[in-house]
Amino acid sequence: MKNRKYSVFVNWFEDYVSKYNLNPKDQENINLKIYHTYRVCDEITDIGNSLNLNELDMFLARTIALFHDIGRFEQYAKYKTFSDAKSEDHALLGIKILLNNNILRELDNTHTKIIINAIKYHNKAKIPNNLDAKSLFFARLIRDADKLDIWRIVIDYYEKKNQNKKIGLGFLDEPYISNETYNAVKNKEIVEYEKVKTINDLKLLQMAWIYDINFHRTFEIIKERDYLKKIYNTLPKSEKTYDIYKDMQNYLNNMLRNNIRKIKEKIKNK
Ligand SMILES: [Fe+2]
Repeated sequence: MKNRKYSVFVNWFEDYVSKYNLNPKDQENINLKIYHTYRVCDEITDIGNSLNLNELDMFLARTIALFHDIGRFEQYAKYKTFSDAKSEDHALLGIKILLNNNILRELDNTHTKIIINAIKYHNKAKIPNNLDAKSLFFARLIRDADKLDIWRIVIDYYEKKNQNKKIGLGFLDEPYISNETYNAVKNKEIVEYEKVKTINDLKLLQMAWIYDINFHRTFEIIKERDYLKKIYNTLPKSEKTYDIYKDMQNYLNNMLRNNIRKIKEKIKNK
């Protein structure tokens, strides 16, 4: 039943995105988001499996992943940018599209609310404190899965394997790091896009997502793929950036150790 509903959603997604048929240069950006969506579906399945999610929760997780960036296509077609600050919030735009097309009509209200909330908060600096437990769980799940694939995309760009400038969101390619960004990252605070001035600030903002990761499996994947180091290697070398990078690696290793300790305790107490 759940699989059938998910296939219906995938078919709708494919029909919907195929309507965005732009010139080759712009189409590249549409394709980037189509591919990203499928990758995020895979990442969320991986994290979901590590948590032993039941069939219903896995269905919800995969539906959220499939639709989390549905606003990106309209955003790009209309504004030719993926910067929410320079256009509009792509999460809210996506929710409007889902509701206007009545895509979730067969789901009950509780499940619709979870999906909408998770999409709404997947791209915000913080999740609000008053969210219900289920929505909070799925918002955390999509935030982890989304970050895993964004890191892949931006690393390809920073390593110049992908030259698509839209990935840099139009930030200045200047060698400096702004004090505001540096101080926020040093204090393990979430950096807001409004504070970002240069590509190097953007790199630090993305590295600092490590402080916003929720699940053990996500930490494992970050370590396996060596994401932090790969971004760090593309930053100008200085004591400041090295210091921040070391903090992040220590944090990652501590989280992995703490999580393993917790898992062992759980097994012992069973
Ligand atoms: Fe995304």
